[in-house]
Amino acid sequence: MNVYDSQRMADALARDGYQPTEVMEEADLVLLNTCHIREKAAEKVYSELGRIRKLKEERAEKGDELIIGVAGCVAQAEGQEIIRRAPAVDLVIGPQTYHRLPDAVGRARRGEKIVETDYAIEDKFEHLPAPERRAVRSRGVTAFLTVQEGCDKFCTFCVVPYTRGSEVSRPVAQILDEARRLADAGVRELTLLGQNVNAWHGEGPDGEWGLGRLLFRLAEVPSIERLRYTTSHPRDMDDELIAAHRDLDKLMPYLHLPVQAGSDRILKAMNRRHKAVDYLRLIDRIRAARPDIAMSGDFIVGFPGETDEDFEATMRIVREVTYAQAFSFKYSPRPGTPGADMPFQVAEEVKDERLQRLQALLTEQQKAFAAGLVGKEMDILIEKPGRRTGQIVGRSPWLQPVIVDETAGEIGDIVRVRITEAGANSLFSEPVL
Ligand code: 5AD
Ligand code: SF4
Repeated sequence: MNVYDSQRMADALARDGYQPTEVMEEADLVLLNTCHIREKAAEKVYSELGRIRKLKEERAEKGDELIIGVAGCVAQAEGQEIIRRAPAVDLVIGPQTYHRLPDAVGRARRGEKIVETDYAIEDKFEHLPAPERRAVRSRGVTAFLTVQEGCDKFCTFCVVPYTRGSEVSRPVAQILDEARRLADAGVRELTLLGQNVNAWHGEGPDGEWGLGRLLFRLAEVPSIERLRYTTSHPRDMDDELIAAHRDLDKLMPYLHLPVQAGSDRILKAMNRRHKAVDYLRLIDRIRAARPDIAMSGDFIVGFPGETDEDFEATMRIVREVTYAQAFSFKYSPRPGTPGADMPFQVAEEVKDERLQRLQALLTEQQKAFAAGLVGKEMDILIEKPGRRTGQIVGRSPWLQPVIVDETAGEIGDIVRVRITEAGANSLFSEPVL
């Protein structure tokens, strides 16, 4: 979502003549878009700010100006504290108020220190300018589209309900309008985003819609060929969403559905509000609807109170589900969340050891999944030139990069290929004529 937000911020600033640059030394404005989900991500902001401060000082010596801004969830969570710890920062702005960014940057340039972390009453998306066609084209044939923000689930480890606020769904018309604009500018694949995307709901012309219904509607948008959504909560996988997986060829057979842990005791302590068996049954239903669906997930090891036995239950659920890909993390206590104050925090070495074992298993499954595709045919969406001349890179339905000879098609084409080899991070293929 931060990638999407950064684009929307760039679009908002484009009106005042700002253009993105890859070279920080060239910039008049450096805006860090930050993540607060784990401590490591949040701490990185301060080391990065140290580096940027030096640049600002060098600039000042030459009589030039550099404005430093911090956006994202660290901005939201820490607000004024950021300027206290890093006085070179001119501007702190939380995710709910990006539509006010141009004004905030203007005021910062006039010497004001800005902290903008209130939840806006007005609809941010109503006030954010649509991207220019040229900007969309430069970003490629796949695009993100935020349909939902915030979360009301309050998992006890997670800061999202505090940093991103309570759940808000964007209206159907706004989403369709954005999808059409993206499609008109050449986008072929849309990934719908939300912290809890499958909790999305909206008022359709014929009553209340859920995400499944929205996907059916988006599949009708001309030239959108592929749809994805991320990230989901097991409790919000309703029948219509599962039906969308069954009936919509455009909905890619790949689902990121985090379970976090395999032990019912830990799931309860995490306030996930389902048991391991509920998750397994749900996956059975999804697989019955769409047999070629591959699973992705998130896992946390070392949540407070997690015993060896609890951890073994996580290993078991991974073996039972088999994932094509997954993210796994050591539990990181976050300020203000219930988990941070729970007794029986797990020692760092124990977390390390568990994470290593879990990741070894997940990597093995990921490799096996890729290896299992060798010899198979699939459609890929061509996205960009390859690193080697004569090659182009596409995306498999399961998000793997697939390399093929450039004669196979143009960027934006969907072409049929046969997988010839599974490499470490990508698949190799030949066109099917
Ligand atoms: N510690 C470790 N991982 C976390 N996640 C969220 N909060 C924490 C935390 N405090 C992970 C979850 C979530 C993903 C986005 O980040 O697995 O699904
Ligand atoms: Fe965080 Fe996801 Fe739980 Fe919401 S559902 S609190 S975003 S982990």
